[in-house]
Amino acid sequence: MSTERIVEIGEEGKKAFASADSEESLRELEVRFLGRKSELTGILKGLKDLSPDEKREVGPLVQGVRTVLAEASASAKERVQRESRDWEAERIDVTAPGMADPLGHLHPVTSIINEVEDIFTGLGFEVADGPDLESDFYNFEALNFPADHPARDMQDTFFIESDGLDQRYLLRTHTSPVQIRYMETHTPPFRIIVPGRTFRNESTDATHEHTFHQFESLVVGERGDVTVGHLKYVAESFFSEFFGRAVTVRLRPSYFPFVEPGFEFDISCVFCGGDGCPSCKGVGWIEIGGAGMVQQKVFEAAGYPRGKYQGFAWGFGLERLAMMKYRIPDTRSFMGGDLRFIRQF
Ligand code: DAH
Repeated sequence: MSTERIVEIGEEGKKAFASADSEESLRELEVRFLGRKSELTGILKGLKDLSPDEKREVGPLVQGVRTVLAEASASAKERVQRESRDWEAERIDVTAPGMADPLGHLHPVTSIINEVEDIFTGLGFEVADGPDLESDFYNFEALNFPADHPARDMQDTFFIESDGLDQRYLLRTHTSPVQIRYMETHTPPFRIIVPGRTFRNESTDATHEHTFHQFESLVVGERGDVTVGHLKYVAESFFSEFFGRAVTVRLRPSYFPFVEPGFEFDISCVFCGGDGCPSCKGVGWIEIGGAGMVQQKVFEAAGYPRGKYQGFAWGFGLERLAMMKYRIPDTRSFMGGDLRFIRQF
């Protein structure tokens, strides 16, 4: 066996792999130089017939040449693949306009809630919440609406089928039940606001919707520490900041079972500043919601001793604030599901 021939095969093979220009020609070269019927394989198979001295010489040489050719084949393969790639087809036009990912955004009511929360947390308030599905106890009873009391008719209620339950359940008609829930687990002094969804079983029009939002506020301290004056001050601070102009608050005597005294709550017209305009129907005031000093019966229902604490509470419709701020004429737009409306915000 001539070792020159083995070296020669190595040289031939290297040259052949180096000039291969297609995957097909590569496959042929692999068969020719490394395949089962190749000359090298034949030499390897014939090793067993050689003398020990020849084996020592030829064996490592054949193996070495095989390794060199296997490497030559691998790098030729890589080269051929690289060269045959259609680079033109893969060209990326970095100057082409991009495709914008569609981005969602907050619902206007959510934005308003965030804004309200920001202002109140700045005033030292905490944000509390409670369930949409309430019991009669929290929505009415504990707020001093006795069973069969006509005051319950003030709020048209969606009742839930409650057969076999401990009491009647309903969709909360206001955020006031959270007053009770919060007081059950906290001791005064505290200041909270409660933004949340509320429901009324009534026919809808431009100013009424069956599903809407309110935000409640409750400030409680030791007896004598929290007065109507504080209520007025906090309310004026909030509305002035929310509407970005000086706003005055006016309280008119009214009745809500859970406050005494109770008030109807007006703010000076945010459009004309109180001079009178079409938005306030010429009177200079806009009705906003209800407020008052917390009834001692409500404190008792929450487990507080009678006469120890004093506090104020209010409840407003959030949509109404948004309607004024953004001049939205119909409250049904918020929950109506028309995205053309939502996308304006
Ligand atoms: N919960 C009342 C409603 O929805 C509004 C209200 C009135 C809330 C007086 C209060 C309050 O906290 O003191 O009509």
